[in-house]
Amino acid sequence: MDKLKKIGLWLTIVFLHYSCNQETPEPQSTFPGFVVPSHFPAPIYSGTPNNPITKEGFELGRRLFYDPITSKDSTISCGTCHQSFAAFANLDHPTSHGFNGLFGTRNAPPIQNTAWMNSFMWDGGINHIEVLPVAPLTNPVEHNESLKNILVKLNRQPSYRDQFNQVFKSTPITDQQMLYAYAQFMTMMVSSNSAYDSYVKGNTTALSTREIEGMQLFNAKCSACHSGILTTDGSFRNNGLKPNGIETGRMQITLEESDRNKFKVPSLRNIALTRPYMHDGRFNTLEKVLNHYSEGVQDSPTLDPILKSNGILGIPLTEDEKQKIISFLHTLTDYSFVNNPLFQEP
Ligand code: HEC
Ligand code: HEC
Repeated sequence: MDKLKKIGLWLTIVFLHYSCNQETPEPQSTFPGFVVPSHFPAPIYSGTPNNPITKEGFELGRRLFYDPITSKDSTISCGTCHQSFAAFANLDHPTSHGFNGLFGTRNAPPIQNTAWMNSFMWDGGINHIEVLPVAPLTNPVEHNESLKNILVKLNRQPSYRDQFNQVFKSTPITDQQMLYAYAQFMTMMVSSNSAYDSYVKGNTTALSTREIEGMQLFNAKCSACHSGILTTDGSFRNNGLKPNGIETGRMQITLEESDRNKFKVPSLRNIALTRPYMHDGRFNTLEKVLNHYSEGVQDSPTLDPILKSNGILGIPLTEDEKQKIISFLHTLTDYSFVNNPLFQEP
C-alpha cells in the first residue's frame, strides 16, 4: 500500500470512529426548572429571591455534589454516600462510611423531595437546606474538610471561577454561593412519578388488586405517621426500636427527656431501593421492618401512643398482611427519578 492510500485509510478510520461516537450523543436533558407536582402540597423551599433556581445554578450544584475536591483527601463526594440507584441513599451500608473509611453512626437517608422538608437529618438537627451541606463537608467521618480550604481549592480552578461567576455574577467564590448551588441541586430532586402517584392522580389500573389491598392496610395501620402524599408528617417519634446505646435521637438536639429515642418519621418513597432501614440501618429487608412493627416494638416512656393503643403493643399483622403492605411499598418506587440523567454525575 502506498503512503497516500495508507493515510487515506487512516483518515477513514478516524472519521468512522468519530461519526460512531456522534451516534451516541450525550444525554441531552432539558432543564425543566422547579415544578410542583399537581398532587403535591406547596413546597417549603423552592429557591429564594437571592437564590432563584436556574439551569446554571443547578448544574453547578450538581458538579459540586459529585466532586471529591470537596473532601480533605479528594476521595469523598456527596455522591459517594448518596447514590442515584439507591434514590440517593447509601445501599447496603447500615451506617455510612466516608473519610479514611471511617464509619458514622447513622444510615444515609435518600435525598428526595427536600423542597417539602422543614427539618433534616434523623434528629432534625438542621432546619434549612441552604446550610445543610456544612454538616457533611466538615464532619470528620464524612468530607472532613473546612469550608475555607474548599473555597481555596475551588477558587484555584478557573472553570469553577467561571461557572460561579456565571451564576452569581461575582468573584471570588464565597461559601454562601457554594451553599446556594448545593441547595439548587437538591431542591430539584423531586420524586413524584411512582405507580402510586399515577394511581393517586386517577389511573386506577396503575396498582394491582393486591397492591391496593396493601395500600388500604397501610392507610389503616401506618399512615398516622407516614402520612399524605409525601408519606411522612415530618414529626419526631419513637417507633419502638430497641435503643442501640449510641443514639438518643431528637433528645440530642432538644436535650428534653421527652424526646428520648425519637427520630424523624422518614418518607417511604423509593423505600424498596434504600435498604438498609432505620436511623442505624439495623434492618436489611422490608420483611424485618414489618416484623418489627408486628412483633418487635419495645415499650418505653416515649414510645408513640399509636403503637400501644388499646393496650396492644405494636401493630399486629398476619404474614399475608405484611406481604401485601410490602407489595404496596414497592409501588412507591420512582424509576424516572433514580434514572433521570439530570441527577447523574455529569
Ligand atoms: C460519608 C457519607 C456521607 C457523605 C459524604 C454525605 N452524606 Fe449526606 N448524609 C449522610 C448521613 C449518614 C446522613 C444522616 C445524618 C444524620 O441523620 O445525622 C445524611 C443526611 C443528609 C441529608 C438529610 C436528608 C434527610 O432526609 O433529612 C441531606 C440532604 C444530605 N445528607 C446531603 C448531603 C450533601 C449535600 C453532601 C455533600 C456535601 C452529603 N450529604 C455528603 C451521609 C453522607
Ligand atoms: C408511630 C409512628 C409510626 C407508625 C405508626 C409507623 N411508623 Fe414507620 N417509622 C416511624 C419512625 C419514627 C421511623 C424512623 C425510626 C428510626 O429510624 O429510628 C420509621 C421508619 C420506618 C421505615 C424505615 C425507613 C427508612 O428509610 O429507613 C419503614 C420502612 C417504615 N417505617 C414502615 C412502616 C410501616 C410499613 C408501618 C405500618 C405497618 C409503619 N412504618 C408505621 C414511625 C412510624
